[in-house]
Amino acid sequence: MFNIKQRKLTAITIIGLLTSYNSIAATEIKVAFNQSDKHPQYSALQYFGDRLSNETNGKYKVNIFPNELLGDQRASLELVQNGAIQMSIVANPLVENYDKTFSVIGLPYIYTSPEHQEKIFTSSILDDLFKSTAKFGFEVLGSYTAGARSIYTKNTPVKSIADLNGKKIRVMQSDTMIKMLSCMGGVGVPMNQGEVYTAIQQGVLDGAENNEITYADLKQYEVAPYFSQTRHLMVPDLLIISSQFLSSIPEADQKLVKNIAKDSIKKEFEMWNAQIQKSEDLAKEKGATFIEVDIKPFQESCKKLQDDLIKTPEQ
Ligand code: GCU
Repeated sequence: MFNIKQRKLTAITIIGLLTSYNSIAATEIKVAFNQSDKHPQYSALQYFGDRLSNETNGKYKVNIFPNELLGDQRASLELVQNGAIQMSIVANPLVENYDKTFSVIGLPYIYTSPEHQEKIFTSSILDDLFKSTAKFGFEVLGSYTAGARSIYTKNTPVKSIADLNGKKIRVMQSDTMIKMLSCMGGVGVPMNQGEVYTAIQQGVLDGAENNEITYADLKQYEVAPYFSQTRHLMVPDLLIISSQFLSSIPEADQKLVKNIAKDSIKKEFEMWNAQIQKSEDLAKEKGATFIEVDIKPFQESCKKLQDDLIKTPEQ
């Protein structure tokens, strides 16, 4: 039986709890993403957000901004760095601009198969490298797959490496990417993804290189219908978080964020594998031609770049 004093105390506690629950707003985690909400990485981010919210009773709310709404990858990386937003996905070449060591995990033909890449990305081999960027104001929580990239062109197909001679092909913004294209005999034009479609359409570029999902997602088959399966790059897409934000949350929450991010890597591989064929089929349906090429000469042309980069002294 409650006495009056106890009842009063209980009532005060309940009222206190109700008001504080009412006034606790979830901490927002803004995530910049440069592709659409149909992309497997978008679904992986949703998985990350749902679990983080469920496992903290709604303490965190992950808001994903697709289609470069918060800027291209280079801009979003800077926003994460200075703490203006909390997270983003950026392709490995952009992080390589901060630390050359990253170029090694994004070299042409460095992974022998998607399974090889999955084994590496779901292990802890890269953890130390990923933590090392904290000195720049961000950390890498893990790496999503972005499949294998191939070259696609506007007017004439690339059937062999000789066909690439002098062709202006858009690449991601890093030295390694520019060098990779010149090793293959073409001209690498660095540009952010959002500009590629128009640049091909207007003839500023002869083509670009990317994976089948992005090719279909961004409808680039409309402007560059010849997709030559060079499969020259399996570049990591890095899930990054602001160090300022990470250190502002309790240690237990930091651990949870890291663990859920790790789990989302496995999920993304599954979602990627489930979508890849559909994207290829869609592009074909819309008129794209997929061309099988002998990848050996492409592989050989990139050997020197691999050797040079592996020998690059630490900076
Ligand atoms: C892929 C990759 C992106 C990257 C893009 C690009 O779509 O998943 O992270 O931005 O290629 O070529 O810029």
